[in-house]
This record gives sequence, structure tokens and C-alpha cells, in this order.
Amino acid sequence: MKDVMIACDFADKDALENFLTKMGDAKPFLKIGMELFYKEGAPMVKELKERGYKIFLDLKLHDIPNTVYKAMKNLALLGVDITNVHAGGGIEMMKWAKRALDEAGGKTKLIAVTILTSLDDKTLSDELKINLTASEAVKKYAENAKAAGLDGIVCSPYEAPLAKSIGLISVTPGIRLEGDGKGDQKRVATPAFAKEQGSDYIVVGRSITGAQDPLKAYNECLKQFIG
Ligand code: C5P
Repeated sequence: MKDVMIACDFADKDALENFLTKMGDAKPFLKIGMELFYKEGAPMVKELKERGYKIFLDLKLHDIPNTVYKAMKNLALLGVDITNVHAGGGIEMMKWAKRALDEAGGKTKLIAVTILTSLDDKTLSDELKINLTASEAVKKYAENAKAAGLDGIVCSPYEAPLAKSIGLISVTPGIRLEGDGKGDQKRVATPAFAKEQGSDYIVVGRSITGAQDPLKAYNECLKQFIG
């Protein structure tokens, strides 16, 4: 089940299709986020599923339990492989999200975003009044996700062992091939390091989508991460 997901941070479907053409016959696991989903919506996701792509729909739901339950009911119809919520919405919200997917047949795995990697210890304490370090908060939110019956968390490869220790799968962004720029990521790791840490899925964006030869970069990620 280990796999390399490609972060499809494209403006629209044309840009995505242009990228997929460069991937030849490969059918990579695609991560579709808010940018592309809000532009192209459910029809694009349905079509990609029909064409045989695995999809992680990264929409990070965060609202009252009833609203998240109803929204998840609609997302369940898309038949994606993985989707997610913010653990910050609380255990009850996560439970209702999971219930919606289970009622639709449980085909879609549900994972939680713990603490956004853009938030550091200072922002947590000074601005959000959370008096835990980011890593302590990640641990607590991961435990909450487990208590709600979720399948896993989004975290950095450095936190993959923590996910495993509480019986959760880890989906880990912040991946770079040797020599690529970090961009806005603070803590980056190679696919080989993520494998050592026991990540279940790596999410790779610019190291593949921005490469001269994206298929070569994707194959290198597969080689390092899966072997
Ligand atoms: O281009 P890059 O490999 O940095 O892309 C990483 C992807 O993973 C982006 O789609 C980003 O939104 C997502 N992500 C992340 N860190 C998180 C959660 C999601 O980088 N904590």
C-alpha cells in the first residue's frame, strides 16, 4: 500500500492534463487540493477516478459536526481513496466525518491534518493561545484522530514513527529530491529518509511537477521510497 502521491497544485484542469500527458502511461496517485477542486469541482474528480487514478482529496474539512457529516456524504459519492479533515475540529466532528464515509460503504479512508506546518511554537502560544509545542500538539491531535476512529494523519516524515506508534497511517508532505530547492517548506526530507521513518505515503509536489523530466523524477521517488 505504500505509494508516492503527486500534489497536483495546478490552476485548472488544462494544466493538470498537460502534466499528466508528460507522465506517459504512469497512473500516479494524485493529491487534489482546494485550488483545483474549487475551480473544477466534483466532475473532474469523478472523471479522474473513472480513468483509473487513485485520489487523495485534500480539502481539510473543519466545521460543526453536522455540517461536516453532510459535506462528507457528498464527497463520499466521488469514491476517492483518501480524504481529510482538520483534527482541530475536535473528536466529535471527526467521528461524524468518519460516519458519513462508513455509511457510504467505507471505501474512502479518512485522515486528519494535525497542526499545519506553517504554524510554529510562537504562533501557537502568542496568537492561538495553545500552550503546547507544535510537536506536543501534533501528538495530542493524532491521539484524538485515533480516538475518533480515523485511519491516519498528515504529518512530516519526522513524525511518521509517532503515527505508527498509535496505529495510524502517515501521509507525509515536505519531500524533496537531493538538490531541489526547499521553496516555502521549512523541514524537508528525501523519499529515502521518509521510507526509513516508516511513512506510508509520501506527497511530492514541486520536486516532480517542477522537474525538467517529471516522469524521471517520479520514478526516482518510487525507487527511493518503494525500492
Ligand atoms: O511542492 P511541495 O512538494 O512542497 O507540495 C507539498 C504539498 O503538500 C502541497 O500540496 C501542500 O499544500 C501539501 N501539504 C504540506 N504540508 C502540510 C500539509 C499539506 O506541504 N502539512
